[in-house]
Amino acid sequence: MLHKPESATSSAPTATKDSVVIDDVTLIYKGSASEVVALRGTSLTVRRGDFAAVVGPSGCGKSSLMRLVTGLAPPDHGTITVFGDKVRGPVKIAGMAFQNPNLLPWRKVVDNVMLPLEIVEPHRHRFRADKAKYRAQADALLKTVGLDGFGERYPWELSGGMQQRVSLCRALIHEPALLMLDEPFAALDVFTREELWCVLRDLWQKLGFTVILVTHDLREAAFLADRIHVMSARPGRIVMTKTVDLPRPRDLDICFEPQFVDIVHELRAKIAEVRNA
Ligand SMILES: Nc1ncnc2c1ncn2[C@@H]1O[C@H](COP(=O)(O)OP(=O)(O)OP(=O)(O)O)[C@@H](O)[C@H]1O
Ligand SMILES: [Mg+2]
Repeated sequence: MLHKPESATSSAPTATKDSVVIDDVTLIYKGSASEVVALRGTSLTVRRGDFAAVVGPSGCGKSSLMRLVTGLAPPDHGTITVFGDKVRGPVKIAGMAFQNPNLLPWRKVVDNVMLPLEIVEPHRHRFRADKAKYRAQADALLKTVGLDGFGERYPWELSGGMQQRVSLCRALIHEPALLMLDEPFAALDVFTREELWCVLRDLWQKLGFTVILVTHDLREAAFLADRIHVMSARPGRIVMTKTVDLPRPRDLDICFEPQFVDIVHELRAKIAEVRNA
């Protein structure tokens, strides 16, 4: 049997300026021969400034949910509201990073980081005139993620972990209020991944944006998130919301605490249950 979400924030969505609200959405992919119902009756609320993680079985609709929130796909039913504004197209106040860093190989690192500024207003029309200021911002961000002095390199000169750091900087350069991350560290080895958890933790604590992180790594979710939302098998909807009460700031040592291990076990059991439901 599927549980009701634990927290009222997931079950009673109301659009406010202080939350991201996904309200009863359905998303159907219509192919030439068949239809895939990716999401049905999916509701989720993330409060401004919160770090939310979304976990669930492969193919349950997590990436689809991210596409809806960022406005890259419209829902067939239901609404998405980001800080009070209904999503009707690509969401300018969102930064995005995915499993593959997707850096442009012909652009230097710093020019990859500055790319959103050349696209998103109000930066776009100021970009030429204020390039020196933007360049200083990009350099500062690269320094924050441990890439001081790498701005003039090309992406192919960097390791996978370094490229993912650049991708995080690119997602954050226009100071988005919402950061959407879809398995950003999945391709990295465990040590690099844990290092980048700390980079993301520090950026989030410093800059105060709202995060929605999709991950298969339950330790990653428990280490980083305030709340972890578990999705059912496709069509995916939120079947459990786990509040992570671990104190902040969190260090990697916390991953060995019994309370942390219990959270990971509880999530694992829930996902096993919904996979077989
Ligand atoms: N463009 C598309 N056209 C048709 N079907 C799609 C499309 N994108 C996704 N799907 C289908 O929708 C369902 C949900 O896909 P989605 O990528 O959202 O899952 P996911 O939870 O992100 O999976 P994973 O954990 O493997 O990344 C899957 O059955 C998938 O095959
Ligand atoms: Mg996915």
